[in-house]
Amino acid sequence: MGYDVGIIGAGPGGYVCAIRCAQHGLNTVLVEENRLGGVCLNWGCIPTKALYAATKLLAQAASASEIGITFAEPTIDLPALAAWKEGVVSQLTGGIADLLEKNGVDVVRARGRLGAPGRIDLSSGASIEAERIVLATGSAPIEIPGFAFAEDAVWSSDDALALTEIPAHLVVIGGGVIGLELATIYRRLGSRVTVIELLPEILAAIDLDRRTVGVLKRALKRQGIDVRTGTKASGFESTGKSVRVALDDEGPIDADRILLAVGRRPSSADLGLNAAGVDLDRRGFVVVDENLATTVGGVFAIGDLVPGPMLAHKASAEGVALADAFAGESPGAALAVDPNRVPQAIFTDPEIASVGLSETQAKADGRSIVVGRFPYAALGKALGMRASDGFFQVVAAEEDHRIVGVQIAGAEASDLIAEAAVAVRTGLTLEAMAETVHAHPTLPEGLKEAAESALGRAIHAVNR
Ligand code: NAI
Repeated sequence: MGYDVGIIGAGPGGYVCAIRCAQHGLNTVLVEENRLGGVCLNWGCIPTKALYAATKLLAQAASASEIGITFAEPTIDLPALAAWKEGVVSQLTGGIADLLEKNGVDVVRARGRLGAPGRIDLSSGASIEAERIVLATGSAPIEIPGFAFAEDAVWSSDDALALTEIPAHLVVIGGGVIGLELATIYRRLGSRVTVIELLPEILAAIDLDRRTVGVLKRALKRQGIDVRTGTKASGFESTGKSVRVALDDEGPIDADRILLAVGRRPSSADLGLNAAGVDLDRRGFVVVDENLATTVGGVFAIGDLVPGPMLAHKASAEGVALADAFAGESPGAALAVDPNRVPQAIFTDPEIASVGLSETQAKADGRSIVVGRFPYAALGKALGMRASDGFFQVVAAEEDHRIVGVQIAGAEASDLIAEAAVAVRTGLTLEAMAETVHAHPTLPEGLKEAAESALGRAIHAVNR
C-alpha cells in the first residue's frame, strides 16, 4: 500500500509533521530508528531543562541565607536525579507514541533512507512507497581534531546529560548555547568549570547585542565559571584518571572531563540523498526552496537538516506548515519559517532570550530604529524574586514604531519572550505594547515599560 506522506525522523520536526498530516486525513508513515522525540526530547531540550530546574534549587538554596533562610549542605543522589530526569523524558516520549497512534500514524521502527523519489528503503530490507517524502533526521554534534567522542574523557552533550558523575573540574570546549547551558548545570552541581571559546565572544552564533551578552558574562564570572574567549584547545593527554588540555597560547589545564560542544552538523549523510539527486550545500545542509522542497520532486526537508536556526520549535513550525500545504491549505504561502520570527531561549543564569533583530543588526541593516530598555531592578516582582539582574530591550522601526526585535537578559526570559514573539510576528507597535494593561506585579511589565521607554515615557525609569 502506498502512503500519502512518508517521514524519516521522529524528532520535533518529523513527529509534529506526521500528526498534522494525519489530522488532515493523509495516510502517513513515520520511520524512526531510535527513540521517538529525537534529540530534543531524549538527549537535548527536555533533559537539559529538567536538570536546569533541579539545579536551580541548589543555587537558590545556597544563597538563601541572604534572606534569612539557611539550609543544610545539600546531598546529591546522582542516580536518583538521573532517574527522575529519565522519568520526565519517558512521560513525554510515551505521550508522543500515544498521540501518533491515536491520530492513526503508522510508526515503523527502522533506519530509513531515500531509495528513490517516492520510496523509502528500510534497514529491515523492506521498502515503503509514499507520494511525498519528508526528511527530518536532525543533526549531530561536531568533533574537532584532537578531541574524539570515542575517548572516555571527552563528553558529548549526551554523555553530560547521562549524569554518570560530577567531575571535580569540567573543561567545556565551545562557548555556545550547549556549552554554556551545561556549564551552568555542572557548576550548580558543584564542579569547577572552565569554558574555552575560540572566538573573541561567547554566543557568537546568535544575533545578540553586546550589552545582552555582557549581563551573562558578568553573571558567569560571579558564579565562578572561568570563561576564556579567543582561546584554542589543541588537544589533550590522559594523565591517569585526569586529563591535561593543551591550549594554543597559554599553559595547559588539568581537568577531569572535557565536554565538547562546538556546534552540530546536519545528519544528511547515509540517507541516499546524493544518489537520489537531492542537493546538499557544502556544509551538508539539504538545499530547499521557500516551500521546503528539495531539488527532487516530492521530497521535502525540515528542521536541523536545512539552513537556519537549529531549534526544535523552528523544526515543528516547518513540519506543520508543510503538512498544511500537503492538505492544500495556505497555497502560495512560503513555508520556510522566517528566522527573524523564531524566538531563541538560552537556559543560563540569568536566562537570555531574543526574537527578531538586535539593535546592532538593525543598524547594520541600515534601519532607522528607536530602542527602549528597562531594568529588572525596577520591577517589584523581580526584587521579590531576588532576580534584579538584567534588562528588557525593545527595538522598533522609527517610522511606524512597529516592534522588530526584543532581547531579554534576566529571570524567566525564556517564558517572557513569547509575548515579544507575538509582537514581532504581528508587527505590533510600541504604542500597542505600552497601552496593553499588564498585570501587576509581574515580570512582563518590564516589556511594557521598555516599550514606554522607547516612546520616552516610561513611568518607573528615568527617560533619557
Ligand atoms: P554553537 O554554534 O551555539 O556554539 C559552538 C561554539 O563553539 C561557538 O561559539 C564556536 O565558536 C565554538 N568553537 C568552535 N570550534 C571551537 C574550538 N576548536 N575551540 C573552542 N571553541 C570552538 O553550537 P552548540 O552550542 O554546540 O549548539 C548547537 C546548536 O544547537 C546551535 O545551533 C544551538 O542554537 C542549538 N541549541 C539551542 C539551544 C537553545 O536554544 N536553548 C540548546 C541547545 C542547542
